[in-house]
Amino acid sequence: MIRHDKKNRTFDCEPTLTDTQILKFCREGFLMMEGLVPDEINRRTFAYLDEHPSKGPSSIILEDWFRDNVLLEPQVAGAVRSILGTAVGLPVLMSNHRVQCPAPLGDWHHDADSLFGPEVNYLQVFYYPQDAPVEMGPTEVLPGSHLQESPRGVEHHRGVLTTAPAGSVFITIYSLLHRRTKSTASGMRNLLKWSYWRTVPPKRDWIHELDFDFHTADYGGHGVCKYIAHMFYWLCGKADEFRTWGGQSWPCSFPPGSQIDKSYGFPSGPPKW
Ligand SMILES: [Fe+2]
Repeated sequence: MIRHDKKNRTFDCEPTLTDTQILKFCREGFLMMEGLVPDEINRRTFAYLDEHPSKGPSSIILEDWFRDNVLLEPQVAGAVRSILGTAVGLPVLMSNHRVQCPAPLGDWHHDADSLFGPEVNYLQVFYYPQDAPVEMGPTEVLPGSHLQESPRGVEHHRGVLTTAPAGSVFITIYSLLHRRTKSTASGMRNLLKWSYWRTVPPKRDWIHELDFDFHTADYGGHGVCKYIAHMFYWLCGKADEFRTWGGQSWPCSFPPGSQIDKSYGFPSGPPKW
């Protein structure tokens, strides 16, 4: 059940993501949730955006039907609540990537003022109120690109297309590299974008898995594992326990069966010597 606090513009609900899902989100930097929003609301959103072309789309945040069915859609709310903790701050700004198709390919970019580090104090969320097949130029995202800054406009990346049916929502870490893809169909493509905000300190406040092992969990390989593990520890409220020796030590992951025992350098508790 969603508990909406109108006065403080926050919400709370039960978390829905597990340890493994949170760690996967730290590795990839995005989570696609397809076809969640009812068709009637998708059509209403599309019509609203057509009817209010001169007014900033932020006014849609104040519409009860939009808040209850999109911003507080139960699966979206549960995922966001899992990552940001209780009393999640609702958006104060709405953007619409409104594209008259056909349109050319855009540049890969991090959004303005991206920070690169372990803290996840807000989540950037995108919503397609209409079908987004490849012909409508869906956004392309590059999994794992939220960890380190990349120069703008690099062309060689191979990302993942967010092709999805109407009513789909994808949750991202703000600094994730993305671009508009080329559209070949004609018509207006809307893509709404907003942020949810953290209002409480991070802690491991999501679905715990009894067999989840911080020592052997998959934090990724060389080059990225230290960033991913640091982010996961920060989200758990254990950033001060995080340390790594680098090299082949924890938290670097190798293919299953590669090692005969757990990695050295696991930071939990005092050093073992
Ligand atoms: Fe962007």
